[in-house]
Amino acid sequence: MSYNNCEVNRLKILVTGGCGYIGNHTCCELLERDYEVVIIDNLSNSKVEVIDKIKDITSKDVRFYKGDVCDKELLRKVFKENKIDAVIHFAGYKAVGESVSMPLKYYRNNLDSTLSLCEIMKEFNCKKLVFSSSATVYGLPKELPIKESFPLSTTNPYGTTKLVIEGILKDLYKSDNSWSIVILRYFNPIGAHSSGLIGEDPNGIPNNLMPYIVKVATKELECLSIFGNDYDTVDGTGVRDYIHVVDLALGHVAAIDKLKKSNGLFTYNLGTGKGYSVLELVNTFKEVNNVDVNYKIVDRRPGDIAKCYADTTKASNELHWHATKTIEDMCRDSYNFVIKNRK
Ligand code: NAD
Ligand code: UFG
Repeated sequence: MSYNNCEVNRLKILVTGGCGYIGNHTCCELLERDYEVVIIDNLSNSKVEVIDKIKDITSKDVRFYKGDVCDKELLRKVFKENKIDAVIHFAGYKAVGESVSMPLKYYRNNLDSTLSLCEIMKEFNCKKLVFSSSATVYGLPKELPIKESFPLSTTNPYGTTKLVIEGILKDLYKSDNSWSIVILRYFNPIGAHSSGLIGEDPNGIPNNLMPYIVKVATKELECLSIFGNDYDTVDGTGVRDYIHVVDLALGHVAAIDKLKKSNGLFTYNLGTGKGYSVLELVNTFKEVNNVDVNYKIVDRRPGDIAKCYADTTKASNELHWHATKTIEDMCRDSYNFVIKNRK
């Protein structure tokens, strides 16, 4: 099949977990580029209202199947009713702490959904897949910035599901090299769509830094606990590679472009290549949004590392993608989303 620009954008992409945080931003960017989008999501960590918001932002239609990616009969129905050209597989559980206390839940959902999906893709001869992996597969990196070729290891069941799935996909490609697979290892996605219509909306008390900062700024939570200020970093607090979720979404569009052009199995870091400390993020958030964020320093969180940021050269050279949004954009858009959607 040849792909000129007219054909390209009529491709139909199945997005599993498309109602979730990264999925819904990616659906918007695909629709803006005239891809057709079909979503399957069981709404275990998202709300159906997101579908209307995606339609409002893009003025495009999107087909939604409410259901589980582990349900092979449902997948068959989706593939029968739609000629799917490629799949982006976001669906999965992602809370590190919960994965430690409920490992079976994580292994069952993350592995079963991927196996079921790949089996049905094979059945329908759809062999182009983008998979959501994570920087967590680098475990405790010996050096920085982190390159894709670094050794892999994990420190929790969530991370192990990602590492095992990467291995499954590598074996699948080895067995049949007509597959095209892009594994994307995300660093720390934050921010929200500039419309303020979609963003990160976790239930309960957030585990991650930015949603926690936002809830302290809006006075839903009293005080941010900063986990340690005695790391070997610029100010002693942990350093991470925060990436705007819209930049991340565009990384998926670039991955789809890659799949259209080449067969193979490719792995890329998606980050900005820059690290910011917890205090730098908090201070930027306060300044950009002109709000206060109470915080206190507490003990280190078990399992945390001092610094984590990406070498993004490979994604830049091979996907022709790089992040463009600043830490200020990320802070502004995260807050804007919550302010606009406050009940
Ligand atoms: P999210 O929880 O917001 O989105 C995941 C979506 O998948 C949700 O809408 C949920 O309802 C759905 N889902 C889960 N299991 C399902 C199943 N079996 N069948 C159908 N739908 C199912 O998470 P997110 O932040 O958008 O993350 C998307 C992917 O990226 C996940 O695989 C996650 O592990 C990975 N990832 C996320 C981060 C991050 O910090 N957000 C970092 C690295 C990797
Ligand atoms: N932090 C605090 N207080 C909080 C929450 C976090 O000080 O209430 C600190 C952490 O100690 C760390 C930084 O903020 O230094 C970022 O923590 P997050 O929990 O937001 O993110 P992590 O880097 O720990 O992990 C996230 C995802 C993982 C993913 C990883 C990829 O949760 O699933 O990014 O880099 F693998």
